[in-house]
Amino acid sequence: MEINPIKSVAKSIFLNDVTQKLLELEFKLEHSGDATSPIAQQLPHWRRLLQALQEALKGWGWSSPNPSVGCVIASPQNGRVLAQGFHRKAGNPHAEIEAIAKLGTVTQDSSTDFWVLDSKHHSALKGAEMYVTLEPCAHRGRTPSCAQTLAQLPLKKVWFLLRDPNPLVAGRGKAILEGAGIEVECLEDHPHPVAQMLVRAARRIHQAFLITMEQKRPIFYWIKWASSLDGFMAWQPGRSAFNAITSPSTRALAREMRGLCDGIMTTRSTILVDNPLMDLRDTEFVSKSYPLFIWDEGAQLLNYPELRIFSQRQAGPIILLDASGVNGLRPEVSSMVSQNPRGLAEPPIYVWKVSKNRQEAWQMWEERASQMGIQSIWLEGGPRFTSSLLKEGRWDYASAFFGNIIIGANGKGRWYEGLVVDGQLEKSVELDHDLVVSLERDFLVTFSNHFKRFT
Ligand SMILES: NC(=O)c1ccc[n+]([C@@H]2O[C@H](COP(=O)([O-])OP(=O)(O)OC[C@H]3O[C@@H](n4cnc5c(N)ncnc54)[C@H](OP(=O)(O)O)[C@@H]3O)[C@@H](O)[C@H]2O)c1
Repeated sequence: MEINPIKSVAKSIFLNDVTQKLLELEFKLEHSGDATSPIAQQLPHWRRLLQALQEALKGWGWSSPNPSVGCVIASPQNGRVLAQGFHRKAGNPHAEIEAIAKLGTVTQDSSTDFWVLDSKHHSALKGAEMYVTLEPCAHRGRTPSCAQTLAQLPLKKVWFLLRDPNPLVAGRGKAILEGAGIEVECLEDHPHPVAQMLVRAARRIHQAFLITMEQKRPIFYWIKWASSLDGFMAWQPGRSAFNAITSPSTRALAREMRGLCDGIMTTRSTILVDNPLMDLRDTEFVSKSYPLFIWDEGAQLLNYPELRIFSQRQAGPIILLDASGVNGLRPEVSSMVSQNPRGLAEPPIYVWKVSKNRQEAWQMWEERASQMGIQSIWLEGGPRFTSSLLKEGRWDYASAFFGNIIIGANGKGRWYEGLVVDGQLEKSVELDHDLVVSLERDFLVTFSNHFKRFT
């Protein structure tokens, strides 16, 4: 099977399981001599859909608040890929148009709802099949409608993995294509386990868009923690002889994964103990602006100008969330721009005064963060922060990195502490795992708080 090289190892992890299952199915069908079965007939199309997912990975982390849709177009003669594309950035053409633009000229005309194509498209795409990770959009947004554009073409069939939950699109993209005589198939409707794995992989890659749209809330929460095999996230003070729980390559991988979100959030305690940068250095996202939010009552961190976040971090603004000043929820939260404690112009530092009440403080944060374009946040704090978020259910997806190490008496703070009442688990807690990935020395388990929606 042809696999595109993907720059980011962290991204490719999210297609490991479905790639493996597709290979297994291919192997089974080849060796059973069952080449004419309905599933064997489907297999080449599922492979193209996997290629569309690989395209989608390229834009993941860059296209927010839009989903990083991927698209592949295949020839009617031999299934050869004619063109592929992905959505790079909100406001840029969607994946379908990126792919089509490789086969002829595509222009915009403000008097139409669709992209204007040239005659080359009509000859190149006669009888071709298109594979997309999400239903083509029906409406004109920042760019013209994809479904209306595709409806002009002599395509045989459009395959897509997920229905678009956007009420402006849901089912309408499909209806436009069918109205133009193009066959349409949505893999969500196919009961085969491998088809369902493709659908689930698409949900994973587009999850920030899907969850915020489906649940009508502004922010998607992705929590990360690293723990020893016995559940510790930190060392007792003075005992950090080995100083890290996971290996350098695992930590580099976690940093790449960070970039899939629009910003990062942590606590003062973690900043003071670890003196981290909380940035995207040495990743494909190094050029991306990556705001850092820190829960810091009284904005006390401003008293520590030597911290690396102030002197070395170049990834974007730092916002201290000060829950000491405001009582009650007010629509206009007072904010001030303070000077960098070292007197430098960069990075810009803001202090957001939020409610003393935690629920209200989060609500205020959500409102303001979404106003500044944050749709997904990476949560990376110590054991008190992590376990309290897990207990509150304030998470959508989790990356739990387990270091192949037992810390025992040297350990401090377990990730599940908040789930324990009076030192005892009152009832067992089950988390729904999504992926289990073996790393060089450690392993990664991802969990989903919406697992059942995937199956
Ligand atoms: N292994 C890892 O993945 C990892 C990651 C980061 C840090 N660490 C380690 O963790 C240690 C620091 O841990 P820690 O327990 O002292 O600090 P922490 O868990 O990072 O932060 C504790 C602070 O977070 C606040 N907090 C807790 N839940 C919150 C919520 N839902 N919303 C807003 N604020 C909340 C707490 O406030 P209240 O007291 O008011 O509840 C407290 O002030 C360090 O040793 C560091 O190395 C490990």
